[in-house]
Amino acid sequence: MKTVHYRLAFVVLALASSVTSAFDPSPLQDFCVAINDPKAAVLVNGKFCKDPKFTTANDFSFSGLNIPRNTVNRVGSNVTLLNVDQIPGLNTLGISLARIDYAPDGGLNPPHTHPRGTEILVAVEGALLVGFVTSNPDNRFISKLLHPGDVFVFPIGLIHFQVNIAKTPAVAFAGLSSQNPGTITIADAVFGSDPPINPDVLAKAFQLDNKITATASSNADEVIR
Ligand SMILES: *[C@@H]1O[C@H](CO)[C@@H](O)[C@H](O)[C@H]1NC(C)=O
Repeated sequence: MKTVHYRLAFVVLALASSVTSAFDPSPLQDFCVAINDPKAAVLVNGKFCKDPKFTTANDFSFSGLNIPRNTVNRVGSNVTLLNVDQIPGLNTLGISLARIDYAPDGGLNPPHTHPRGTEILVAVEGALLVGFVTSNPDNRFISKLLHPGDVFVFPIGLIHFQVNIAKTPAVAFAGLSSQNPGTITIADAVFGSDPPINPDVLAKAFQLDNKITATASSNADEVIR
C-alpha cells in the first residue's frame, strides 16, 4: 500500500513539474500589449529574429569597452550598457553587459533597480562602496567596500548603488541576466517623471516639504534633459 502512495506522489510531482515548466516567458520590455491584427504589431516579446543564414560576427560583437567614459556630470558616473539594442545577437539569450566609470572622490551610480535582471559586478579600478536594500518590510541594507578584483551581486529588482571613495577614477564591469534588464533610477523616476507626479504625493510619500519636492523635481529634470 505504501509503495502505491509513493508511486502516486511521484506521478503527481512529475505532472506538477511539467506544468511549471510550461510557464509564460519572462517579459523582455516594460510591457507588451496584445493586439489581434498581426500586421499592426511592431514587436514580439523582445525582438524578431534575423534569418540565421544572414548572421555575421558583427551581430555578436562590440568594440571600445576599454575606453574610459566621461564622468563630468551631476552624479559623477557614466554607464555604458550593451544590451540587445547594441548587440542584436543577444536576442533571447538572457544576458547583457555594462561598463561603469566613476569620477574620483564620490562618483556615484545613484540608487536604481533593474526590473528584469540580476547584476554581477566586478570592480577593476578604484574603491567602490556598494549596496542594495532588501524588499519590505525589512528593508535591510547589505553593503560592502569593493577593491579591484572584488565581485558583488545585486539581486533582480532590488534598489542598489555604487560610489567611488578613491581619490582616483574607478571602473567596474557588470553582467546582467536579461537581454534588456531595464533601469529605473529612483530619483529620476520619482522626481523627474513626465508628466510630473503631484508634489503633494511626493511630499507625503517622502515626508518632505512641498518646496523641497519642487526643487528635487526641477533638479531631476535638468539631469534628464
Ligand atoms: C558618457 O561618456 C560618453 C563618452 O565619453 C559621453 O559622450 C556621454 O555624454 C557621457 N554620458 C554622461 C551621462 O555623462
